[in-house]
Amino acid sequence: MPVITFANTKGGAGKTTAVLLLATELERMGFRVTILDADPQYWISRWRENSGDRTKVKVVPYVTQATLEKHIQDGKREADYVLIDLPGARTPLLAKAIGYSNHVLIPIQGCSMDAQGGAHVIELMQYLADRGNIHIPFSVVLTRVNSMVTTRALQTVKALLAERRVHVMDTPIIERSAFRDVFDFGGSLHTLTTASVSNLGKARDNARAFADEVLMHEALRQQQRQGQLAALRAVA
Ligand SMILES: Nc1ncnc2c1ncn2[C@@H]1O[C@H](COP(=O)(O)OP(=O)(O)O)[C@@H](O)[C@H]1O
Ligand SMILES: [Mg+2]
Repeated sequence: MPVITFANTKGGAGKTTAVLLLATELERMGFRVTILDADPQYWISRWRENSGDRTKVKVVPYVTQATLEKHIQDGKREADYVLIDLPGARTPLLAKAIGYSNHVLIPIQGCSMDAQGGAHVIELMQYLADRGNIHIPFSVVLTRVNSMVTTRALQTVKALLAERRVHVMDTPIIERSAFRDVFDFGGSLHTLTTASVSNLGKARDNARAFADEVLMHEALRQQQRQGQLAALRAVA
């Protein structure tokens, strides 16, 4: 069962928001989701308490370096997807969580590459690949993008990152008040009502496109693994 870690050593990058959007979209699609909350600010645990029975997403609070492995193992047994929300700081938890992950998503705020916290994670991923031969797929997710930003501006950022061998998700997460409201009201974009939240339809479309893209990458990787297995069997 895939483990997806959200990492950026800077706070405010949009990690927890992206975790929440992905978790609730996966739930809507019928998947069982467990979130491991390793951020000492516990925003996602508070959201869970706030949500009551409006969600079935399971949140495990107080995840530390000592308990991470056990929670991942429990999560993999119980859920279809395990999402890890990390603190916005440099911590040994980062490398440990990455080591257990099938995919690392690096939310970077806006379209600027001066995002130091994202660069730290990218450097760590490249170091693991070059020195440790540990190849864990990772992607940058552009977050809190102004809805007026043009496709061309996004293409420029993607091209810059591609030169550095960094994959960028096609779907940016747009700055939308609905994404803040889910934390205040609890539940998901689908339990909020259009009367109280502006641009809810666009927010829902954005979250769905993001989740679809994450799932597409998971499916592609699974196909690759199966292809590799079939090739190994053929030569065995
Ligand atoms: N796409 C977005 N649209 C609107 N507000 C956002 C968005 N992403 C994050 N925020 C807000 O920015 C702040 C930091 O986001 P958060 O997801 O908690 O970042 P991190 O987990 O990286 O610290 C929060 O107040 C959150 O509500
Ligand atoms: Mg957070």
